Amino acid sequence: MILAANFKMNHTRLSTKEYLRRLDAFLEEKKPKSDIYLFPPVSALDSFETKVNIGVQNAYPAQKGSFTGEIGLEQLEEFDIKNIIIGHSERRHILGENQEFITQKFKFFKDKGFKIFYCIGETLEVREGGKELIKKYLGLQLEGIDLSYKNLVIAYEPVWAIGTGKSATSEDIEEILEFLSKKSDAPLLYGGSVKPSNIKEIVSVSNCSGALIGTASWDVNSFCEMIELTN
Ligand code: 13P
Repeated sequence: MILAANFKMNHTRLSTKEYLRRLDAFLEEKKPKSDIYLFPPVSALDSFETKVNIGVQNAYPAQKGSFTGEIGLEQLEEFDIKNIIIGHSERRHILGENQEFITQKFKFFKDKGFKIFYCIGETLEVREGGKELIKKYLGLQLEGIDLSYKNLVIAYEPVWAIGTGKSATSEDIEEILEFLSKKSDAPLLYGGSVKPSNIKEIVSVSNCSGALIGTASWDVNSFCEMIELTN
């Protein structure tokens, strides 16, 4: 099982360090079977000595260069970062990343051997159009993506379920994961209001290999609780 914490724009360098100290102590004591990933804000990156796989929520598809406000491979290599989230809905819908740019990022980081947590998910408007429309929409978000890439993880994160406290139902998740499992052998995660009260049910959905967790991961005790509940 894969359990990943996406800090988004939360936590500082100091609080991330303290979070990792407590998470590592928990992992040392409980030795859970799951692979644990943490995606802190870039300002918190450091040469951590940790059992947790550290990744970034975003990066620019270039070694270095004139890309104001971005970080590239050179900055990731400094901290030996080999995990990245690409295609998160907040980057698609708030930051305006289109499929062409996302594909470019995917190709770049695939060529560099990164583990890519590739996110897809439909908006509320699409959801209201029914299951077939959802699948068509998700299919477009997979366009240009090498679905047989060996370091690929796909996270299904319906936009309407992110940060709303309202997760998709097990039935909905199952149908979409089954659809995705026919397209790729990559581990499939669910994300969107995963929390201690629903994580067990969600990860027991068939074809579900874990969760990408936002809000409920920001508190280390809550994240540890979810690791323990799914062990
Ligand atoms: P929430 O868990 O806050 O809904 O966020 C999910 C998410 O976007 C993880 O990438």
